[in-house]
Amino acid sequence: MHQVGTRNLAKPFKEDDPPGQSVSMTNKLIPRESPGIHQNKATFRDDSICKKRAVGRFLVLDSIEDLKDYFNFQKSHRIFESDLDIVNNPCDINRRKYRDAEVLSVMAANAPAGRILDIGTHLGRSAARMAVNSPRSTIYTVNIHPDDARDAGLLVTDILSEEQIGSFYRERNIQNIRQLYANTKYWQVPEELSDLSLVYVDGCHDTDFVISDTKLVFSRVRKGGFILWHDFTPIYRDNFSWIDTAMRGVEQLIREGLITGFVLNVRNSWIGIWQKLQAL
Ligand SMILES: C[S@@+](CC[C@H](N)C(=O)[O-])C[C@H]1O[C@@H](n2cnc3c(N)ncnc32)[C@H](O)[C@@H]1O
Repeated sequence: MHQVGTRNLAKPFKEDDPPGQSVSMTNKLIPRESPGIHQNKATFRDDSICKKRAVGRFLVLDSIEDLKDYFNFQKSHRIFESDLDIVNNPCDINRRKYRDAEVLSVMAANAPAGRILDIGTHLGRSAARMAVNSPRSTIYTVNIHPDDARDAGLLVTDILSEEQIGSFYRERNIQNIRQLYANTKYWQVPEELSDLSLVYVDGCHDTDFVISDTKLVFSRVRKGGFILWHDFTPIYRDNFSWIDTAMRGVEQLIREGLITGFVLNVRNSWIGIWQKLQAL
C-alpha cells in the first residue's frame, strides 16, 4: 500500500532514523528455525541468539545479502525498473521502493520455479518483477474487478480500471503472467493454483483481509515455499497506521499457530518473509 488516501501518519519519522525497535543483524550468523529446502550455513542451534536479535517473532536483517545468506540463496536477481528511487510521496523513504523490488526479485529468483501467486495486481509491477526473475514460473496475479469495488475492504490502495490493472506488465509484453479478477473475500481459488512456490499478499491491507488472504492460500503453498506480506516492517509500524494494521494480521496468524518460527524483514523494505517448512 503506497498511496496515502484517508490514512494518517501516526508519528513523524526522520529520514535515515536509526529505528528504535529494529534489531541489527551485524554479522552473518543468522539463525533460523530449522533447516528447510535451502539448508542454511548457520542452523538454529542457539535460540538465545535469535531471542536477542528478534523483536518477538520478527527478525530484521540488515541487508539483502543477509537475506541471501539466511536462505543460502545462490541465484542472482535483476532489477529492471529505473524509476524506483523517485520520491513520489511520504512513504518513499530510505529507498523503500528499491528495497521492496530487491526483496521481491531475490525471492522470485530463488524460490523453486513453478507457480507463483500475486494477490493485488494494481498496475502489475510486483507481478512483472517476479515474472522477470522467475522466467520458468507462471505468475498468477489477482485483483478485484472495478465493478466489485463497493465490496472491497477499507485499506485499498486504488481501484483501477480493467485497462489499468496489469498495464505495466502488458506494456512490457511479459508473457509468463496470468491475470485473474476476484475479490479475495469470496474467491474460490482455482484448482490449478496449487503447489505454489511463492505467494505475495498485497491486496487489501485491513487486518481481516491479511488474515483471510493468507488462510485462503496457505494450504496451496508447497513445503519450502514462501509467503510474503507487503506493508510489513517492524521499523515503521508506528509511523504508518496501515502498516500496523497489516502486521496485526500476521501477528494473529502467529497467535493461531499457522505461522511458526520467524517472519523476516530486510531493513528499509516493507515486506515480511516467511518460509513454510511443513507440508500442512
Ligand atoms: C497495493 S496494491 C498492489 C500493488 C502491487 N502488488 C505492486 O506491487 O505492484 C493493492 C491492489 O489490491 C487490490 N485489492 C484491494 N482489495 C482487494 C480484494 N479484496 N481482492 C482483490 N484485490 C484487491 C487493489 O485494487 C489494488 O490494485
